[in-house]
Amino acid sequence: MSGDIASRAAALVRDVPDYPTPGVVFKDITPLLGDGPTFAAVIGHLAQQAPEVDLVVGMEARGFILGAPVAVALGVGFVPVRKAGKLPRETLSGAYDLEYGSAVLEVHRDAMAHGARVLVVDDVLATGGTAAATVELLEQAGSKVAALSFLMELSFLEGRSRLADHVVQTLLTY
Ligand code: PRP
Repeated sequence: MSGDIASRAAALVRDVPDYPTPGVVFKDITPLLGDGPTFAAVIGHLAQQAPEVDLVVGMEARGFILGAPVAVALGVGFVPVRKAGKLPRETLSGAYDLEYGSAVLEVHRDAMAHGARVLVVDDVLATGGTAAATVELLEQAGSKVAALSFLMELSFLEGRSRLADHVVQTLLTY
């Protein structure tokens, strides 16, 4: 069943060579998002494999596209982890390295009750910098990361090794 969803999803992920910089092959998920039945099947799969959680957390920007519908499917709230300067109230923040470049992530300090169990959702696990910084923010906020769930993992970048103590789920592996 998930193999079927995986092959349908994989057929709608487009390789874009030399984007955003020479030598990088960008995985473009917009064809998948534009296919209603496949998008729904992927969201259903991510929700179905999720542990019991109080909240879903998604990272700007593509983590919002996948994380928010997973939260709705699970009947729980959604917390955005945003790039610097986008959240209006007091935040926790952490710097992180990207596959290309670096940035700062922030979350509202009061977004989660102490001890909340959270599911982290994003489209891609690449170097793991984004996910590791998110885990650090959530743990600083007193949350328990029950699992991290990704549409795809670029396994050659070994991001999973930065999340060694956590449950990591991915639908597609490259
Ligand atoms: C991409 C992707 C992940 C992250 C993965 O986001 O959506 O969040 O990179 O890379 P990493 O494992 O090496 O940290 P990006 O920061 O490009 O932002 P976007 O979703 O706004 O395009």
